[in-house]
Amino acid sequence: MYKNHECVKKEQYIIFVDKRFAQFSKTEIAAVLGDFSEIYRSDKFIVIETDAGKNAATALVEQTIFINNAIPILGVFDYSSGFADIISAIGNSLRHGERFKLEAFNANSNTKQSAKTIEVKIGEALESMGHIADLNDPDTNFSIIFSGNSAYVGRMASDGDHKIMDEFRRSNRETTNKISRAEFKLKEAFEYFKVDVKRIKSAIDIGAAPGGWSRIVSDFGIKVLAIDKAELVYKSPHIIHIRERGDKVGKDVLEKFGKADLLLIDANIGPRDSTELALKFAGSIKDGAYLILTLKIVNGNISDHIKTAMDVLSQGYTSIKLKKLPHNRLEITCFAVKK
Ligand SMILES: C[S@@+](CC[C@H](N)C(=O)[O-])C[C@H]1O[C@@H](n2cnc3c(N)ncnc32)[C@H](O)[C@@H]1O
Repeated sequence: MYKNHECVKKEQYIIFVDKRFAQFSKTEIAAVLGDFSEIYRSDKFIVIETDAGKNAATALVEQTIFINNAIPILGVFDYSSGFADIISAIGNSLRHGERFKLEAFNANSNTKQSAKTIEVKIGEALESMGHIADLNDPDTNFSIIFSGNSAYVGRMASDGDHKIMDEFRRSNRETTNKISRAEFKLKEAFEYFKVDVKRIKSAIDIGAAPGGWSRIVSDFGIKVLAIDKAELVYKSPHIIHIRERGDKVGKDVLEKFGKADLLLIDANIGPRDSTELALKFAGSIKDGAYLILTLKIVNGNISDHIKTAMDVLSQGYTSIKLKKLPHNRLEITCFAVKK
């Protein structure tokens, strides 16, 4: 049974949250949408209803730090007597031969079947209707959350405006030969913050070991000054390794390297130390150069860390943006432009 009424103008969205940062979701959603009502919440998903308009999903991802994805809801179904309604709603929303990807999640559902089992059943039924399951390159993504007797079905086109977080995961899965998880964080940052890599000729990478970020940028032909006391696994003629802590690097080394177009900081230090390092190194990068820095939230109050970071960085940088990207764990990626 379809629970929505045609006449209701409000849109519903499934919001994906990271449970480590779930406490911020309500405030962040309210800041973007103003008025909204929460109709379901678990530690990973929130379902909300809003009359904020069609672009709400994009705004929720782009204007918040902690929201990874917001997916418009196709329908809410009572599945206690089977999945036929879900299958026909999804099937009818696809063109013949359209490639789809389905992900089911169990959040205190009343079914004994696992989400994976249901996912396979629905997927097979859709394939028998002529649609093509494609986990790597779908045209359309469906997320189904089973909770109690209700199934919340979200639908998102891969080429939609708010695709970005899912796309990261897809392109990341295709990557082989990786040095560290850190590499994903940098790729995600380049994509999410729309960094124009072609503009970059040289980069300073502080906290560079084992070398993932240095490898990514040097693979673009960018000259890298990699700073870390630890060994770099990856070597390249494009990379100069300085075995030193960031704050101990001599002026002569930096002057010889020349002012860089990109400053990367992924060192294992707290938000105050890393942002102060970014400020210190602002003199070694060009005006308009990019900064990509990971704020490590190891302990203390997250809001305080964010405020500290903004206060310190705003002394030397503009266009400061923060986002917890899919591969960030207890950390937030920060993007800024040198003033
Ligand atoms: C998470 S790892 C960096 C991973 C790297 N971005 C990559 O892609 O391989 C953190 C690194 O920060 C370094 N580090 C910690 N404090 C530092 C400091 N003050 N200056 C420079 N490097 C530092 C550590 O030696 C460690 O290698």
